Amino acid sequence: MEFRMLFEPIEIEGMRIKNRIVMPAVGTNFWGIDGAVTDKLLHFYEERAKNGVGYVVVGVAKIEPQFFGGLAIHDDSYIPGLRKLSELFHTYDVRCAVQLWHPGRYEISLMESEPVSASDIPPPIFTKRKPKALSVEEIHRIQDEFVEAAERAKKAGFDAVELICSAGYLISQFFSPATNKRKDEYGGSIENRARFATEIVERIREEVKIPVGCRISGEEFIEGGNSLEDMKQIAQLLENAGAAYFNVTAGWHESKKPLITMFVPRAAFVYLAEGIKSVVSVPVIASNRINTPEIAEKILQEGKADMVSMMRALLADPELPKKAMEGRSDEIRVCVACNQGCMDYAFQGMPITCLVNPAVGREAEFRGLKAEKKKKIVVVGGGPAGCKAAEMLAEKGHEVILFEKDNRLGGQLLLASRAPYASEFESIPAYFEKVLPRRGVEIRLNSEARAEDILKLKPDVVILALGASPLIPEIAGVEKAVTAFDVLAEKTGKDGEKVVVIGGGGVGCSTAAKLAVEGKDVTIVEMLKRIGSDIGISTRWNVLLFLREKGVKMLTETKAVEISDGGVVVEADGERKLIECDTAVIAVGTKPNDGLVEELKGKVKEVYTIGDCSKPAKALEAIRDAAELALKI
Ligand SMILES: Cc1cc2nc3c(=O)[nH]c(=O)nc-3n(C[C@H](O)[C@H](O)[C@H](O)COP(=O)(O)O)c2cc1C
Ligand code: SF4
Repeated sequence: MEFRMLFEPIEIEGMRIKNRIVMPAVGTNFWGIDGAVTDKLLHFYEERAKNGVGYVVVGVAKIEPQFFGGLAIHDDSYIPGLRKLSELFHTYDVRCAVQLWHPGRYEISLMESEPVSASDIPPPIFTKRKPKALSVEEIHRIQDEFVEAAERAKKAGFDAVELICSAGYLISQFFSPATNKRKDEYGGSIENRARFATEIVERIREEVKIPVGCRISGEEFIEGGNSLEDMKQIAQLLENAGAAYFNVTAGWHESKKPLITMFVPRAAFVYLAEGIKSVVSVPVIASNRINTPEIAEKILQEGKADMVSMMRALLADPELPKKAMEGRSDEIRVCVACNQGCMDYAFQGMPITCLVNPAVGREAEFRGLKAEKKKKIVVVGGGPAGCKAAEMLAEKGHEVILFEKDNRLGGQLLLASRAPYASEFESIPAYFEKVLPRRGVEIRLNSEARAEDILKLKPDVVILALGASPLIPEIAGVEKAVTAFDVLAEKTGKDGEKVVVIGGGGVGCSTAAKLAVEGKDVTIVEMLKRIGSDIGISTRWNVLLFLREKGVKMLTETKAVEISDGGVVVEADGERKLIECDTAVIAVGTKPNDGLVEELKGKVKEVYTIGDCSKPAKALEAIRDAAELALKI
């Protein structure tokens, strides 16, 4: 595809941006505990800047010191650090902004502090603490802080500032009738609810004279919140106040609607940007689940937005713009919207990483790798760990031969992709199938490597990435059951109409979801208190919502004790009962495939096991293990 519009320059208030690709703000947690710019943060952004992104917004940046998380911009002492960031962007002809942030009632504090908001309504998430409703004097003080922070951004060399008016933070708490019950000039009518923000925009423009972008939620997706029609009016008010552009995202942190997970189709919220664009004349940026340059180009060509925001796409592959420009978009590592390394880590206050790109946050370590001595390396197993090891080792200059017993690369990722909501996982094996041969890896599909085959090759190193097999519990009648892996791989033939899935972890949920979508009557039986306890925090509730909507029955603290001809006998609260079914499916975990280790010991200089065959691992850990090992060889 030719990216005719993606690489067309655009001007925003005299700021010439070389293309339409925006990297929006991301709470990386790569800053210091106080929010200072670190080398880690600089390396992270350099990797994105040098590979062709047009406009980068860094942040969130806190305007008060006590907020937990965020880059610091509350004090002049942070200006020199911030200047390093702006200079780095300008070296690569990238325009940059700082996103100014006040969390309002979402505040988590580093020190004793009372959260504040438009009104004293506690948030349903995070601390759930009742905030103090701000007095008009206090509102003016916070507005001063925004203006002072913008001044610092300008002094630090940034081209613009952006206000985070989305996600449920303080500015959106003023916008929303759900959280703003004020009776004064900052509450009531839409003009009044927007006033807190419009005054900030006006003052920054007048006093600091720097473009002010606004990140808004095109619809809040909370009960009693602003609809797209309301947000159109707010956008017009912000534009009249002098807003330079709008980056239109969706919802708040507390929204009960999936916003950025796999459950959200690609580009699903572009209609919100389109709606805002229909009422303003400044540039509008579309956001959320835009993960390939093809989708981005289409949005631009259809005139739905002027620019595209690609956050996780640029975590997953910082070279996305460069690869698109060079006609190598089929080599892009696509973000699969798993949130496992990014959102789930960020929510726990940890530095982010990425399932498909373990170099996130470790850019300096992964740069320009070259092996000291070329080695012949056999990798056994073409799952995520084996493929990642093969890729990196080949890039380092080693000779790599990869054995895979199936006719495709991917291993358990292929199975995971069979859940009705997880087809994005397919793109990971698809990437390796494209890229590994181009890196010189010799792939032997349909080849179950035996020790003698491996030894014949006289390798210096063997890496065993053999994956894992389903764990079969010792339950009477278990031989009548099928495994979740077989169901997902569609190897079981026709399953009956009534199915009991034994085990309600991620694999059990995926299997239940697949069967329910096929019209089966499905019950999950789980011993633990929670279904999906191994699924990441940002995705688990989406999975449960999906299962409930599909009518899947979920029994917790219930143990399967026997599989009989009529169904599955379960025990709960000391009582036994039969759940009738035609098919029982086992999904209680896996056991490592640890063959070959003993046979190769002492015969090959270096033998390693990675991923699931060394210990039960999620794909993120398996890929990270593989990268870790490849760094050392
Ligand atoms: C780990 C993480 C941190 C984020 N931090 C911010 C932030 O600081 N400010 C912001 O406006 N959006 C933030 N977002 C939202 C992203 O900018 C983006 O809108 C979202 O990930 C959806 O777009 P994408 O599909 O292109 O990633 C964050 C998202 C993630 C996953
Ligand atoms: S961790 Fe998952 S969602 Fe996050 S950037 Fe990587 S692939 Fe995308």
